[in-house]
Amino acid sequence: MKLKVFRYDGESGESRYDSFEIESGPGMTVLSALFKVQDELDDSLAFRYSCRGAVCGSCGMLINKVPRLACRTQAESLLKGEGQVKLRPFPGMEETADWDPETEVLVEPLPNLAKIKDLIVDMDKFFEFYRAVEPTFKPASETPEKERLMDHEAVSELEKYTNCVLCASCVGSCPISGREEEFLGPAALAKLYRFHIDPREADDDSRLLLANSKSGWWGCEFNANCKAVCPKGVPPILGIGKARREIQKLGKEPK
Ligand code: SF4
Ligand code: FES
Repeated sequence: MKLKVFRYDGESGESRYDSFEIESGPGMTVLSALFKVQDELDDSLAFRYSCRGAVCGSCGMLINKVPRLACRTQAESLLKGEGQVKLRPFPGMEETADWDPETEVLVEPLPNLAKIKDLIVDMDKFFEFYRAVEPTFKPASETPEKERLMDHEAVSELEKYTNCVLCASCVGSCPISGREEEFLGPAALAKLYRFHIDPREADDDSRLLLANSKSGWWGCEFNANCKAVCPKGVPPILGIGKARREIQKLGKEPK
């Protein structure tokens, strides 16, 4: 199997693509393939990972032009044409390389985030927007003696948004995140919506109105790439749409 990998030197600003021929086997993930390259062919190749089990979110990268977790993407399946995802194109995605999908796997850094080295991107902006939505539970009442009970319907609605592993795949697939510097982006907005609908928080619309602006709920153009690429099934676009409808009902003008 051939891996065509983006290389970038943050100090000189120079970039290129390197091709590596490796022996693959059933069950090999793209992350394992990158380790093979690093171990056997080029130990200067840089990429991020931690858990190798699709829970830490650190191995998000662009694989065959789709943001994915490298540790849960089977390399050989890609050569068979499996796992294709149709995305709405945007400049950050289009400027990437061509490749032969029958013989090669193309691995590049996530679009829309500054590059640091090879496949490693700068996550500072992603986490700046994440922190901006105040992603911590703010209980409406004192801590009860036992648990805070929620009904099943509320739990299943909340669960759609709680599984985010902060991999930034959605941001790397979002045409607006690539175009508008201040747009909070799908991950932060999904997180904000998750806390807004949490029945254990005060029902005062403060969460909803926190992103009542063009850089928040109203910046989204419903391209839906975020939902298509999320490895955890989080649907940011759904939460954004629902938040907008709620704000319209409140009659609050965007800031
Ligand atoms: S919403 Fe999905 S794609 Fe976006 S950061 Fe969370 S897990 Fe990754
Ligand atoms: S290494 Fe943790 S999600 Fe891939």
